[in-house]
Amino acid sequence: KRIILVGPPGCGKGTQSPLIKDEFCLCHLATGDMLRAAVKAKSPLGIKAKEAMDKGELVSDDLVVGIIDEAMKKTSCQKGFILDGFPRTAVQAQKLDEMLANQGTKIDKVLNFAIDDKILEERITGRWIHPSSGRSYHTKFAPPKTPGVDDVTGEPLVQRKDDTAAVLKSRLEAFHIQTEPVIEYYTKKGLVANLHAEKPPKEVTAEVQKALS
Ligand code: AP5
Ligand code: ZN
Repeated sequence: KRIILVGPPGCGKGTQSPLIKDEFCLCHLATGDMLRAAVKAKSPLGIKAKEAMDKGELVSDDLVVGIIDEAMKKTSCQKGFILDGFPRTAVQAQKLDEMLANQGTKIDKVLNFAIDDKILEERITGRWIHPSSGRSYHTKFAPPKTPGVDDVTGEPLVQRKDDTAAVLKSRLEAFHIQTEPVIEYYTKKGLVANLHAEKPPKEVTAEVQKALS
């Protein structure tokens, strides 16, 4: 299966991804995670991406299309993948379709995590992540066993630099202006399943399973 997860910051893409990945044995490709790793490593890509990310703006289409193109070539991704946070502009969606057409494949489903903006600030400002695995927690909705510590490795959790109420405003603006057209693009192709992303995580998981069955 080749699946796209689309939705605003904090809608639950990263939370649902590991579950889908394990159930269908897919590769999880999250452009945000890849870019954060590049920023941390201070690679040429990271240096170019950092400024836009810190401001909550989108990184250029060329940069993200490049990293996705690279990632999809990995043999482990040939069976299928979950795209988390990509495509985020109409241009990225068109490029993705071209890349897949060249390989003789196409997208099977687009899961739209529909949710009201008002709910997102509490989700974003309460999030803590374990950077190396990408696991995310929430002080109220998904607390770790020990505050500030990853359940699996015992390593410290951190907050993302862009997880502030102020930067969230820019991220939401980018979503509404640049990413909503992506949802329209795939709706026209009949590929979109709309989820109730404001529900508790387990109920969202059930909707995901139904959409993919
Ligand atoms: P990215 O990392 O993709 O961030 P995002 O889209 O803003 O999404 P988030 O990771 O914030 O949200 P999520 O949906 O994964 O939420 P989560 O499941 O963790 O992108 C970051 C930046 O990179 C962008 O701003 C841009 O600069 C750049 N970038 C990335 N891709 C790009 C692209 N294609 N083009 C250009 N630039 C790009 O959940 C959030 C919190 O809520 C957690 O604490 C979680 O525990 C909790 N939670 C989850 N589900 C529920 C629930 N159902 N009920 C209650 N709490 C819940
Ligand atoms: Zn995420």
